[in-house]
Amino acid sequence: MEPLLEVRGLKKHFPVRTGMFQSEKKSVKAVDDVTLHLNRGETLGVVGESGSGKSTLGRLILKLLAPTAGEIFFEGTDITDLSRRQMLRVRRDMQIIFQDPYASLNPRMTVEKIVGEPLLVHNVVPASEIPDRVGVLLEKVGLHRDLADRYPHEFSGGQRQRIGIARALALSPKLIVADEAVSALDVSVQAQVVNLLQGLKREPELSYIFIAHDLSVVRHMSDRVAVMYLGKIVEVATNQEPVQKSAAPLYARTHFGRASPQPKAKKQARNPYGEIPNPIDPPSGCSFHGRCKHAMESCRRDVPQLVDAGDGHLAACPVLNPPSVAART
Ligand SMILES: Nc1ncnc2c1ncn2[C@@H]1O[C@H](COP(=O)(O)OP(=O)(O)OP(=O)(O)O)[C@@H](O)[C@H]1O
Ligand SMILES: [Mg+2]
Repeated sequence: MEPLLEVRGLKKHFPVRTGMFQSEKKSVKAVDDVTLHLNRGETLGVVGESGSGKSTLGRLILKLLAPTAGEIFFEGTDITDLSRRQMLRVRRDMQIIFQDPYASLNPRMTVEKIVGEPLLVHNVVPASEIPDRVGVLLEKVGLHRDLADRYPHEFSGGQRQRIGIARALALSPKLIVADEAVSALDVSVQAQVVNLLQGLKREPELSYIFIAHDLSVVRHMSDRVAVMYLGKIVEVATNQEPVQKSAAPLYARTHFGRASPQPKAKKQARNPYGEIPNPIDPPSGCSFHGRCKHAMESCRRDVPQLVDAGDGHLAACPVLNPPSVAART
């Protein structure tokens, strides 16, 4: 079956100025040659350290950013170069939920305005029907419909995230990109919102790209998990894999330890593998080699390709994928 979304050779290089007088022009390869697909009804988790390019990838997929290179296909149609007007129809089918539900909700708008806005913009229902549609959406995300005339500051973090989810659901999208959608919430509230998102997946044809730091949350949500490192996808694991592999994506487990939702400073202090390299001057070969306890001579030289080890588990690593295995694929 044709995938809902297909991304081929996607790149986003941000120009930056470095050097003593900011005179040197270089670029940050925030997303560097990413190829992936998302099946209908599937949840693809995306994990990776801070700065690995997860948000940039999400924004590229939603066409909130223009790619430097590569192609994006949605339902078989190449949407890479569609104009804003042409994108309007596609936009209804792809929505985003952000990390910070407070910053992403307009504080001067009532819940009814916030959740109903997409319906109004896309002219989906007559204005007179919007209050009722908003009521249904609020109930779908576990909020009482009487709360529609309140403002965002009157809600808790978890409730605000539910409002953001109701807004994302308003146009019955086929794809939702959730970028750290639960990371800012208390652990108990996180579980409730994760369960809500899981439950909504039973909607016909709703697929997620679920971006987060916390591997356990991502694994709970996802059918497959992609690990990003310095702009590249370095591993894709499925949830159906044998226990030793499914405990966590191998790359993350062997190389990062358990990714945690801690603030950056704390996370790096606890990371036994040191800091992520400067993305402006990434290391040669495998960009992880300086931090990898398994690195071999060839890792300093050769950029490893993402290959299937034969069981659906993809890894860009000659240790996880010895050349004998890679040669077979
Ligand atoms: N507009 C921009 N201009 C220059 N560099 C950028 C821009 N946006 C992102 N970057 C850089 O691109 C890289 C990837 O950033 P991105 O925000 O996608 O990472 P992330 O994986 O989402 O990180 P986090 O987990 O902290 O949210 C980083 O090095 C970042 O500094
Ligand atoms: Mg991010």
